[in-house]
Amino acid sequence: MTAVRIAPSILSADFAKLGEEVRAIDEAGADYIHIDVMDGHFVPNLTIGPKVVKALRPHSKKIFDVHLMIAPVDQYIQEFADAGADIISFHPEAGAHAHRTVQMIKGCGKKAGLALNPATPTDVLDHLIDDLDLILVMTVNPGFGGQKFIPLLNKIKDVADRIKATGRKIDLQVDGGITPETAKHAVSHGANLLVAGTAVFKDGPSGYQKNIKALRGE
Ligand code: DX5
Ligand code: ZN
Repeated sequence: MTAVRIAPSILSADFAKLGEEVRAIDEAGADYIHIDVMDGHFVPNLTIGPKVVKALRPHSKKIFDVHLMIAPVDQYIQEFADAGADIISFHPEAGAHAHRTVQMIKGCGKKAGLALNPATPTDVLDHLIDDLDLILVMTVNPGFGGQKFIPLLNKIKDVADRIKATGRKIDLQVDGGITPETAKHAVSHGANLLVAGTAVFKDGPSGYQKNIKALRGE
């Protein structure tokens, strides 16, 4: 079994010192830096745009995993790619042509992820999975940190089985309400990459390393 990787969501960081926070989670052992982009339209919250991603880029060499909760999405992909995103994930509900969006992301030389809301059926993957590098299963309705984990364990397993059937390496990321306890369930059902905001940032910088380890089950 491959070791589980942790992607702290900077949504729960101190926004007054984001660069410092990114350096702190990098040093504390984060594998990816998860960046939640919200537009106040696709989800009822506003966060950050490509300018902030660009400003954060020099603070870490780790993978910038950019989760776009915006609609429309296509017109912003190039900007996020130029800002330094490594993986760009979007929701299929963000536009009419998910296949085109995947091709746009790949055309920018970036890895493409598809994010599934709790109510989004997994069959949206049927004709897209062969082009994806990451599948994000949301275990909260997107928009806010600090929500309770929705136990979509059969769905995680279903996605894991679909990934296995491709024979390709695709990250199975779970995002929302991840704690050391819910992490165990997500991983035992096939997740290999966990996003966590509250559970990483809750105690301030002195707790980041301990919190990341706890999510790995160490
Ligand atoms: C929710 C975001 C998540 C969120 C996770 O819309 O996609 O990445 O920040 O936060 P926690 O871990 O607090 O549920
Ligand atoms: Zn996210």
